[in-house]
Amino acid sequence: MEILGVDIGGSGIKGALVNVEKGRLAGERHRIPTPQPATPEEVVKVVVEITQHFKWRGPIGCTFPAVIKHGVAYSAANVDKAWIGTNGEALLAKKTGFPVLLINDADAAGIAEMELGAGHGHQGLVIMLTFGTGIGSAVFYNGQLVPNTEFGHMEIRGKDAEDRAAERVRKAKDLSWKKWSERVNEFLKQMEIVFSPDLFIFGGGVSKKHDKYLYLLHTQADIKPAEMRNEAGIIGAAMAARSLL
Ligand code: BGC
Repeated sequence: MEILGVDIGGSGIKGALVNVEKGRLAGERHRIPTPQPATPEEVVKVVVEITQHFKWRGPIGCTFPAVIKHGVAYSAANVDKAWIGTNGEALLAKKTGFPVLLINDADAAGIAEMELGAGHGHQGLVIMLTFGTGIGSAVFYNGQLVPNTEFGHMEIRGKDAEDRAAERVRKAKDLSWKKWSERVNEFLKQMEIVFSPDLFIFGGGVSKKHDKYLYLLHTQADIKPAEMRNEAGIIGAAMAARSLL
């Protein structure tokens, strides 16, 4: 079965038809740059355009880089603040004309990886981390998601962890993989003190470059790269939208 997955990010909004049983894209991705400022109205217009591009008529799973409860955004770290308090799910459903499931981007990526990727079959505590514009997190205990964890905003050396160790920061500061890994190790150490996870899954833009840094990371827990790479979000959003059927 195919469902349209959409991934709303700080720089691009990407859509693709997803084969939800196989956990992979069923065709080409369509990407449109995120409008600036990324207000709810402008972002929703782009999602409508993506829906039309695929001539899609059916439920839509859509990620968003913020805390999402019952369709409403409760934060907006890397998008326009007008999102806070907006029921994005209701707005998207109204403008596209189809039922929409709106979910935090890292939670979506985690759902995909736990069901059909790097976390498949893993019990205990699994923490998925996505490194991109920010740092996203998704926590699973015995396969059950604990949503909206937001560990990227954990404070390290007086700053949000994502402002020291996101992929955006590595690129902007031209950090070597070794230097970036030192920052990531500090973050992981704090997470291990608090949560003692069994497995970390590394997703987002850095997942395909794992040979450059995984050997530099030191944790008690195992670390695996996301198998669906940067597409885990789109795939997981579509998988989560099965609940709308
Ligand atoms: C947001 C999270 C999001 C992460 C990755 C953070 O800044 O607060 O909700 O999951 O970025 O996009």
